[in-house]
Amino acid sequence: MNLRDTFRRDRVFDVVRPGTRTINPGELDTGGKYLLYMENITVSFDGFKALNDLTLYIEPGELRCIIGPNGAGKSTMMDVITGKTRPDQGTCFFGQTLDLTRMSETEIAGAGIGRKFQKPTVFPEHTAAENLELAMAGPKTTWHTLVHPLNGEQRDRIAATLDTVGLLDRHDHVAGALSHGQKQWLEIAMVLMQQPKLLLVDEPIAGMTRQEVERTAELLQQLAGEHSVVVVEHDMEFIRSIASTVTVLHQGSVLAEGKMQDVQNDPKVIEVYLGE
Ligand SMILES: Nc1ncnc2c1ncn2[C@@H]1O[C@H](COP(=O)(O)OP(=O)(O)O)[C@@H](O)[C@H]1O
Ligand SMILES: [Mg+2]
Repeated sequence: MNLRDTFRRDRVFDVVRPGTRTINPGELDTGGKYLLYMENITVSFDGFKALNDLTLYIEPGELRCIIGPNGAGKSTMMDVITGKTRPDQGTCFFGQTLDLTRMSETEIAGAGIGRKFQKPTVFPEHTAAENLELAMAGPKTTWHTLVHPLNGEQRDRIAATLDTVGLLDRHDHVAGALSHGQKQWLEIAMVLMQQPKLLLVDEPIAGMTRQEVERTAELLQQLAGEHSVVVVEHDMEFIRSIASTVTVLHQGSVLAEGKMQDVQNDPKVIEVYLGE
């Protein structure tokens, strides 16, 4: 099956809706100390506070791990950042000027926030490289864009991104034949094709082999620096191996934040999370 057929069949990417403002990534003002500012965010579902006065700051290029028991609000936090859920209260800024609470999901993605969901959604009949081609075309894909052959620069970017995630030797292999871990990395590569400044990764290592877990830890560390990376994960061993700043969420608020060694010895954390 060729890319054209996939596009016709699935209408994979929404054509930008009329009236939706396109944010030029150049509009992102990264001049401040932080790239992401979430302050006093509250989200209620029928009176239940999934997020309760949550305040969180992410620096440019930092790798942040978010842990916390089930229901702590980790996914809701990502939903607020990506515009899927509107907070009842609080402010959420990307850079100095972009108010995420007033932007659509499409605008937020265009401004430079990419999210990798837990479940891989690669196109199994297409090669790894074709998956990146579709991802590069992004939400503004039209049939017209896809019928054009790739130029050399685009081909180079696809190869370089596959190389980043360790899949260059799978360039022409169909995605459906990749291992579970490789599919997860391909999906990270698809998000990278949109050149996000902030990359949100929800539970990346579920179902991976030990070796794949180690490779994923290396990959996320490698991506930090050029990108800010926020990773939600349960696996303590994995978080320890990444050795970044850890934020513990509990009942929709920050319970503790700091280096893993400090956080894991915090009695509050032991009580609600590590001891469970
Ligand atoms: N759309 C929703 N409607 C009602 N309750 C929700 C909704 N989304 C999340 N919740 C509730 O909010 C709390 C936080 O959920 P979530 O952010 O998914 O937690 P986590 O990702 O940390 O496990 C949970 O109690 C969950 O049941
Ligand atoms: Mg979750």
